[in-house]
Amino acid sequence: MRTLVHVSDLHFGRADRAVADALSQFLGRLNPHAVAVSGDFTQRARRAQFREARTFLESLPRPHIVVPGNHDIPLYNLFARFLNPLGGYRRHITDDLEPLHADTEFAVIGMNTTQPKSHKGGAVSDVDLQRVCGVLGGLSEDVVKVVVGHHPFDDRAAVEHMVKAGADVFLTGHLHVTYAGHTAERYDVGGRSAIVVEAGTATSTRMRGEANAFNLLHIDREQVVVECYGWQPAEQTFAICDVTRFARTPGGWSTSHRP
Ligand SMILES: [Fe+2]
Ligand SMILES: [Fe+2]
Repeated sequence: MRTLVHVSDLHFGRADRAVADALSQFLGRLNPHAVAVSGDFTQRARRAQFREARTFLESLPRPHIVVPGNHDIPLYNLFARFLNPLGGYRRHITDDLEPLHADTEFAVIGMNTTQPKSHKGGAVSDVDLQRVCGVLGGLSEDVVKVVVGHHPFDDRAAVEHMVKAGADVFLTGHLHVTYAGHTAERYDVGGRSAIVVEAGTATSTRMRGEANAFNLLHIDREQVVVECYGWQPAEQTFAICDVTRFARTPGGWSTSHRP
């Protein structure tokens, strides 16, 4: 069994310091096998914001599988946005835009879905799709395969490709709303369904009607359990607010009602 923490949308520059500090301590106590961060480290891709995000990232248990979000690309500096959109991210967060962590039980693969032409929207490039499918296809059937991107994967063809190549779980952010379901609910992906998990914003003060939150996944070959942890202002800590269980079936992953 492996535990994977999924945090997203930190938005340093508009982050709640008390929540960020409590989160880093909480994740230290959870001591997961890996931490995935699905983008929007900063509010406006400014140097000081990246530095804060870097310090926070350093405080989290390792290994980290991280991808950039649309807020990690400069919005107003058009020169930087088009010539070197991920310059700040690469300098302060990581130069690795193809992160991968794999062991005998699970693999976590990062995919950059940002595109400078559209500040908010995301896209899956053909090059990245081929690369991720190649990695997925090269992994053993025994390994549960997780793909991490910032934007929810709305490109049905891309999702179908990745599911066919072996993707079991998609982790995304951007919407600042927690969700756990499977691809058959979201897209008409024939054949085999995968698990779709979206994280709320872990530390941003810009929430969409729900408290700051992150996900903890318990992953094994036959079952994946997704626990959503939400911020409890009165106690100044995080607590489980929702649990979704998925079981492997011949048609892929489906919501399990086993206790
Ligand atoms: Fe965001
Ligand atoms: Fe975003």
